[in-house]
Amino acid sequence: MAYRARVIASGSYLPQRILTNAELATQVETDDAWIRQRTGICQRHIAADDELTSDLGIAAARKALDAAGLSGQDIDLVVCATATPDETFPATATRVQAALGMTSGAAFDVQAVCSGFIYALAVADNFIRAGQARRVLVVAAEVFSRILDWSDRTTCVLFGDGAGAVILEAQALNGSAERNSAARGLLSTHLYSDGQHHDALYVDGGPGSTQTTGFLRMQGREVFKHAVTRMAEAIDVALDANDLTPGDVDWMVPHQANVRIIEAMAKKLNLPMDQVIVTVDRHANTSAASIPLALDAAVTDGRVKTNDLLLLEAMGGGFTWGSALIRW
Ligand code: UT7
Repeated sequence: MAYRARVIASGSYLPQRILTNAELATQVETDDAWIRQRTGICQRHIAADDELTSDLGIAAARKALDAAGLSGQDIDLVVCATATPDETFPATATRVQAALGMTSGAAFDVQAVCSGFIYALAVADNFIRAGQARRVLVVAAEVFSRILDWSDRTTCVLFGDGAGAVILEAQALNGSAERNSAARGLLSTHLYSDGQHHDALYVDGGPGSTQTTGFLRMQGREVFKHAVTRMAEAIDVALDANDLTPGDVDWMVPHQANVRIIEAMAKKLNLPMDQVIVTVDRHANTSAASIPLALDAAVTDGRVKTNDLLLLEAMGGGFTWGSALIRW
């Protein structure tokens, strides 16, 4: 039996506290105009001291389960994308699993930083295609506020905290019509990495090196340059693999790092910005959580409709990058 994964629900969660550019400018030498012009960011959400990554992920997961009319017991796999886990181990996914009352199946984390959601989606998709899972909760949750050097203006203005989740369900494919790109479901995922670029974006600590958490370090201009090139390549591969053209895309749901990168991708596709889901202004860069947060915003406000073609793309530390196409 062949299967395709269909996204049946989404959910998201943002911490209550909002940190504006103006407030940041009182803490570090920056200003609202610079941040807006160079990144498109106006504000970001910051987790409360007692809020952990798992708490954000659990809140997003509960919303997705409610939207699907399911409970934790209906899920047989939890894949959590995060670069800011609660603890070195066990996986944050197991905390999510426990909170949802899911006592069977499996749960594990995927670490691909800002590409984490696409990676987790690919893992979930492959479990479903292989017939090893029937319903998968993919949750992406991050508290980047905990790994920022708040005295470094070149990085601390860029990130925020948040979580997003989707539920994938296996659909048995009975005929060839159900296998083509016009039929609903996750059409394909495409993953890449090149570890040679470690120094351009990394955290300078960890259990195996410094035994500290460390802080995020980034050569912004270098990352920008690669992001534009690599994500454009990943978009081409995704469209080619499904015999689709840029004109077939209804919505681009990109990683939300910088509105200038998002605009460059839209231009490449010749897609007007009103077909691009942009949340970077309100959420800043929430790493793995940025795509499911944007997706859930567009699903909730009714922009994304049944049968729409969604193009997802991301790039992050490693470097890692990738793309996915979903017929909603
Ligand atoms: O999610 C993972 C992927 N991450 C990304 O995709 C991020 C990619 N990179 C970027 O988005 C951009 O490179 C940044 C937003 C990080 C930086 O924008 P930029 O236009 O590349 O600026 P820059 O690094 O070339 O810096 C320009 C100037 C510098 O001053 P000088 O050397 O020209 O005098 C910086 O020191 O802007 C200065 N600057 C700031 N000024 C005010 C850097 N950060 C700030 C700041 N406020 N926060």
